[in-house]
Amino acid sequence: MISKDSSKAKEILEQNELIAIPTETVYGLAGNAFSDEAIQKIYALKKRPHFNPLIVHIKSAEYLHEVALEIPEKAQKLANAFWPGPLTLVLKKQAKVPDRVTSGKDTVAVRMPDHPLTLSLLSSLDFPLVAPSANPFGSISPTCAAHVDEYFGASLKMVLDGGVCTRGIESTIIGFNGEEPVLYRHGSLPVEEIEAVVGPLRLHTKDDNSPSAPGMLSRHYAPKTPTYLTSNLKEMCASFEGKRVGVLVFKEKIQHPAIVHQEVLSDKGSYAEAASNLYSAMHTLDQHQLDVIIAEKLPNEGLGVTMNDRLLRATQQ
Ligand code: TXA
Ligand code: MG
Repeated sequence: MISKDSSKAKEILEQNELIAIPTETVYGLAGNAFSDEAIQKIYALKKRPHFNPLIVHIKSAEYLHEVALEIPEKAQKLANAFWPGPLTLVLKKQAKVPDRVTSGKDTVAVRMPDHPLTLSLLSSLDFPLVAPSANPFGSISPTCAAHVDEYFGASLKMVLDGGVCTRGIESTIIGFNGEEPVLYRHGSLPVEEIEAVVGPLRLHTKDDNSPSAPGMLSRHYAPKTPTYLTSNLKEMCASFEGKRVGVLVFKEKIQHPAIVHQEVLSDKGSYAEAASNLYSAMHTLDQHQLDVIIAEKLPNEGLGVTMNDRLLRATQQ
């Protein structure tokens, strides 16, 4: 059921049941972070592997101390600069954070989301919310209430309707190696903005003793239709002659007889607008009974890097 009733949402969560919540990035599948029962329901409904830990959503930056220990100076600086907002920090966890939330790791991922409805819901609860993106494991994240409803229908008690997500791509995840910030996942907050606050970021590698973020799994955020990413759209369209081709472009439509549907991310060439439209365009393309989706590679700067990361994971590779 899609609804704007926050008090009903609170009631459902207090019974250790799940709802979907709006955030500025994507919709989350939310439950009580301190309830084993709620956490198990999230993994089951999402069909998410148990090795993939959850993000804890908190009501204020001060609440960070309730769930995390030993907060590095640069982590505090980032929280001050970007919360509420699309930044997740991976920090040493407090003992009271259930192992099920962190998949047994000694770190917890935390963020304060920037959505008025969800912030007021969080303030009304006496527990934080764990919320992975509200999609079955591996598929495209939802950026409006209708997307969530299509995925889960009656198996979810409520989708709290907060409109269309303004950012449209998941949060950027930063972990720490001692005091040094490490980029775990590209996201809605461009790396350049983070580096302006804490200096150069290192990319997470397998050698780090910290666990990898499964948002980094190769095939993820994927439409059902076979998808390809290219810098040369025309050439790739030509190679699918006779097929039903759908195209995803940054700002300018292209002409080719094989194209039956085309989505433009931002005709004025704005990265922020393109990012907010990306998943919704992928959802739409996936509903056109296409043989193939061809996506245009974006310039490698700012949110262009994040969008290329998601598009690459949507492809066959
Ligand atoms: O924008 C977002 O981050 C959205 C909204 C709903 O807040 N949530 C989201 O959650 O994208 P999810 O579960 O789809 O992605 C969370 C990512 C996963 O890739 C997970 O592996 C990583 O965060 N993660 C969680 N805890 C971690 C930890 N302790 N160490 C490393 N990675 C962690
Ligand atoms: Mg996800």
